[in-house]
Amino acid sequence: MIEKARESWTSRLGFILAAAGSAVGLGNIWRFPYVAGMNGGSAFIVVYFFIALVVGLSIMVAEFTLGRYTKLSAVGAFKSISKRWTFAGFLGFLTAFIIMGFYPVVGGWTLAYAFKSVTGLLRNAETLRDAFGKFITSPVEPIFWLALFLAFNVIIVARGISKGIELANKILMPSLLLLLLAIGLRSWTLPGASGGLEFLFKPDFSKINGNVLLAALGQAFFSLSLGMGCMITYGSYLKKEENIPASAFVVTAMDTLIAILAGLVIFPAVFAFGVEPATGPGLVFIVVPQVFAKLGVFGPLFSLLFFLALFVAALTSSISLLEVAAAYFIDQKGWNRKKAVLVSSAIMFFMSILSSLSLGVLSGFTILGVGFFDLFDLLSDKVFLTVGGLLVAIFVTWVVKKENIHMEVTNNGTVKFPFALWYNLVKYVIPVLIGIITVTGIISAHQPAVMVLGILIVILAAIFSHKL
Ligand code: PFF
Repeated sequence: MIEKARESWTSRLGFILAAAGSAVGLGNIWRFPYVAGMNGGSAFIVVYFFIALVVGLSIMVAEFTLGRYTKLSAVGAFKSISKRWTFAGFLGFLTAFIIMGFYPVVGGWTLAYAFKSVTGLLRNAETLRDAFGKFITSPVEPIFWLALFLAFNVIIVARGISKGIELANKILMPSLLLLLLAIGLRSWTLPGASGGLEFLFKPDFSKINGNVLLAALGQAFFSLSLGMGCMITYGSYLKKEENIPASAFVVTAMDTLIAILAGLVIFPAVFAFGVEPATGPGLVFIVVPQVFAKLGVFGPLFSLLFFLALFVAALTSSISLLEVAAAYFIDQKGWNRKKAVLVSSAIMFFMSILSSLSLGVLSGFTILGVGFFDLFDLLSDKVFLTVGGLLVAIFVTWVVKKENIHMEVTNNGTVKFPFALWYNLVKYVIPVLIGIITVTGIISAHQPAVMVLGILIVILAAIFSHKL
């Protein structure tokens, strides 16, 4: 390991905004509303709240603690305590690439749609579905946008923690809130908007079943950036005097509130115009522009603001994913930051091109029946993140000494925190809960072969990570 002065966040606010920036992303604005829409609306939201607060918040505290305790990113954090556990960190490093194998594709779409909003996209509401299909299957246009999206990432992450990631989040996160509120104001004042509120807030508990639970768990991990060493890495730049439990609470609350806010922005408008809410991943790129197209002269402006917000949210998340990959090369291989960022992003660019093409010209090329885009999406969400979360929970409570964790999480006993409750939750309850939900998920999955492939990759990573 190479000993160098470690970079750190310059302020508590900077750290919280960066961690919240990582958490708040496409997962909140693009994914949450349609996953909620497809899983019973408000019933899903109640379950999601519970899981985010009990499982998500607890794992986030565990990740921040492990990162700050070891002062190392994903791989090093595990390896420095137990060589045998290197694989758990390595899995996180792999997951960063897998998520960045499709995330920049959607990030590129947000940029393209921001641009298209003011160049005639909304002229004809009837053709929006076809226009989206045509755009994402084209072999060139989406690749231009994803390259541009990745370029923003490279510039920010290459500038480092305080001057790059922290500064970008300090500007971008408040902008995101303002943008969402501006669109929200328009959405809530539409006649008929209350149908959307009812859809979001009137729970029907009969809709809660195993699938809803699994969807909520996967969504919570993805949305809170957990289970892949991202929050371990961000925690490793955290100063000793910061309050970990309070920071984790604020980040979890912000992430959950913005997901709800996104739902509050989208559904009232969707209901006001009588559009079907449960329309899957196209919700944001097809249905939302359809709604804006009906807004008249201000439609393009609101559409531009909306896709800019989505772009900002995506960017503050993808920089954290790029950071996880780059930090491995910096911490473990002693590379300089520029080289680490360029090499990581070049691999991500290549994978994203494959993903993008898999929706069009490469659609005939599938692995176990799914194209690259869906493969990366499925593997990360349904397998790697939940397995990663399980491993962190086990590692922090069964492998690391209890006293060390206690000292780290409470700043040597000075921070008020229900330690015993949290510790027992993470040690006993959460692993069992994740285990049950993941196994039922794999059994009832639509693509069981992909799940098995994921598990195989986990095993291979465990075998080969000894060489790292
Ligand atoms: N939390 C991000 C989102 O909701 O879009 C996605 C993400 C970022 C997942 C970072 C995992 C991660 F480590």
